Amino acid sequence: MGAIIVVDALWGDSGKGKVAAFLTQRENATLCVRAGIGTNAGHSVYLTAEESIRTRQLPLGFLHPTTVVAVGSGVAVDPRIFNDEVTRYHLQERVKVDYRCPIITPEHIQRERDNTHLVQTVGTTASGSGMAQADFALRKAQQAKDVDVLKPYLADVAQLANEQASVNTVVVESSQGTYPSLALSPDYPYVTSGNCTVAAAVDDVGLNWRKVSGAVMVVKAVPSRVGAGPLPGEISPDEIRRRGIAEYGVVTGRLRRKAEGIPWDMLRYAAMLNGPTEIALTFCDHYDPQITGVTGADQLTPAIKALIAKVEQTTEAPVTIVETGKLFEHMIDLR
Ligand code: IMP
Ligand code: MG
Repeated sequence: MGAIIVVDALWGDSGKGKVAAFLTQRENATLCVRAGIGTNAGHSVYLTAEESIRTRQLPLGFLHPTTVVAVGSGVAVDPRIFNDEVTRYHLQERVKVDYRCPIITPEHIQRERDNTHLVQTVGTTASGSGMAQADFALRKAQQAKDVDVLKPYLADVAQLANEQASVNTVVVESSQGTYPSLALSPDYPYVTSGNCTVAAAVDDVGLNWRKVSGAVMVVKAVPSRVGAGPLPGEISPDEIRRRGIAEYGVVTGRLRRKAEGIPWDMLRYAAMLNGPTEIALTFCDHYDPQITGVTGADQLTPAIKALIAKVEQTTEAPVTIVETGKLFEHMIDLR
């Protein structure tokens, strides 16, 4: 019972969506709600080597067939992307959008594309999310209730989430990461347009804090960063390719910058801000290729066991999920 919040510890792109889908199944959650900024985040999961599911607006909890998925009122909604995902994944009967969500218009996207500061200095994804959030703060945005194509799906998601969290389990899937957080990152302006912590996600959904039963912080074993801003221990694009760990952004297609390893002080600070009750350690195959595709808890390699110990010591939370490869089945439940 209660709400479990999924956030990223560092710069995101760590598989939060996949972890949220895993937790939705593990907990048999009745509701999975998307928190975060807007459609700047891209979440993907591979069901088989060829078949992947990619979303920018909806949480991946819909992989569990009985779960209702929803978008919290703090999240900017692009009606075209919302509709496209509802249709593509046949979610008409089990999707909700909060009637108060701010709306992203084509004009917001164009304004981000034309904004030299955002494009060249910050490295925006140009999804329109920041401009929509800015207009929302200026009290001139449209809301979901003003958009015809969203009418069939409108709901009070805050009420739904609080009610469900009292009797069932709700999973909240946040976006981006702790360090792109607007008001908590040490490297403004290389940030996104809002905070991406547990508290921010709780607020995005309108959850009563007493309903929160846990927080899963996702830690990427080999951290990455897209866009501008400092990345401690950054390795070169050549080194990334040599190690065979190149990744490209779901939304932008950009090569993700990579760090040598986890910046431990930053991980400790992220744990302080988020208060995780569990850790999901993802991309372990990038850290130790020997673990690739392993599905048994008894098959962890010495290198991964040592990494788990260090992550647990730093965050003061248990590593309960380990990801060893691209597929959904490459997630090991360590509980
Ligand atoms: P914006 O929020 O799209 O304007 O982007 C601002 C900064 O946050 C840029 O450095 C982006 O690369 C980064 N960012 C935005 N969305 C994501 C995400 O989903 N994952 C990782 N970084 C992101
Ligand atoms: Mg917010």
